[in-house]
Amino acid sequence: MLRDRRILLAVTGGVAAYKAVFLARRLLERGAELEVIMTDSARKFVGEQTFAAITGRPVATGLFGEERVSPHTELAGWAELIVVAPATAATLARLATGLSEDLLSATLLASTAPVLLAPAMHTEMWENAATKRNVEQLAQDGYKLIGPGEGSLAGGDVGPGRMVEPDEIVEAIEAAFTGPMSGWRVLVSAGGTREPIDPVRYIGNRSSGKMGYAVAAAAAARGAEVQLVTSSSLPHPTGVEVFPVETAAEMAERVWELAPRVDVAVLAAAVADFRPAEEITSKLRRHDGVPELLLEPTPDILAGVAKLEKRPFLIGFAAETGSLDGAMRKATDKGVDLLVANDVSEAGSGFGTDTNRVTIMFPDGTSDEWPLLDKSRVADRLWDLVQQIRQP
Ligand SMILES: Cc1cc2nc3c(=O)[nH]c(=O)nc-3n(C[C@H](O)[C@H](O)[C@H](O)COP(=O)(O)O)c2cc1C
Repeated sequence: MLRDRRILLAVTGGVAAYKAVFLARRLLERGAELEVIMTDSARKFVGEQTFAAITGRPVATGLFGEERVSPHTELAGWAELIVVAPATAATLARLATGLSEDLLSATLLASTAPVLLAPAMHTEMWENAATKRNVEQLAQDGYKLIGPGEGSLAGGDVGPGRMVEPDEIVEAIEAAFTGPMSGWRVLVSAGGTREPIDPVRYIGNRSSGKMGYAVAAAAAARGAEVQLVTSSSLPHPTGVEVFPVETAAEMAERVWELAPRVDVAVLAAAVADFRPAEEITSKLRRHDGVPELLLEPTPDILAGVAKLEKRPFLIGFAAETGSLDGAMRKATDKGVDLLVANDVSEAGSGFGTDTNRVTIMFPDGTSDEWPLLDKSRVADRLWDLVQQIRQP
């Protein structure tokens, strides 16, 4: 899946440019975010309006006079992957020599994203010594070439030089995004829940959602299909399907719905244990006196997942203050495969910070203390560990 992957499609001036229209469609169908660059020659073969209509965004065509101030650096920074399809002999030559006099070549030069080139040209052009040299140079420079294939070419000729079909290019793009966790379905919960007291107030907690988001982002970066149930308003991590919720009850409903279909569930959200028992539909007022709030327990989301008949590999989180004894009880009694515990009262650890010092606890009562690390590093180490110990 290419959900939310930021892909830049560059179309250059060959007859196969019409196939790039199908490629654009396929990428969008798979959930990619797409920007299109067309060279001047490409626009002689297919109208830019076609791509604009498909993507819903204007096509970028020039270095100067565009809406963007610096289109080449903006597009280069935005793209997670650039695919040039078709890639003409001229474009390959420009890229191999480092020229940057038009939007596409400048963008390619300004980008650090992986670049996939799908050459298309007549056999004589493909077999020309200069093209061969350029292709060798590009491979050495780390560009990935797909094709060309053999078959009928424009004008009735037959031979090597035909652009590979859009579906094959899509597969190559998907392969570029796959990692060691491709094929894994992962569910993550994040954020602190909010339990309404009245229409304007709530009982909440200090959780920012950063740890859960780091876990979700790291799984997606390893190629997993990730669903994130969150009460946080942090920006959505790339390649992750997000389900916003607010209360513990909403989070429970969504997590329980999704959990039976995933391989791993990481419940990192700080879920309220109690909520106001009574629903108050209009704002409480000072002159009515101090209200008495009766609380009731919220659903135990972790326990609900643990008792599923076909439960995923289950990772719980425990935020403690002071001793981690309570967390160890949770690790041994609640049916998890791993528990990530931290002391949120410790400096640099827990709610709202970018770092965390966690202790990994196992159901057999053993534990492993990790040093103070960036949350993204904690997330990476956690996935390293899960990859090691989870039986597929
Ligand atoms: C009808 C026609 C078809 C062409 N097809 C190709 C082609 O398939 N591959 C190619 O490398 N050049 C082809 N060219 C030549 C390119 O359009 C030309 O080299 C152009 O400068 C490429 O510019 P660009 O790489 O900036 O798009 C074709 C030209 C014409 C007139």
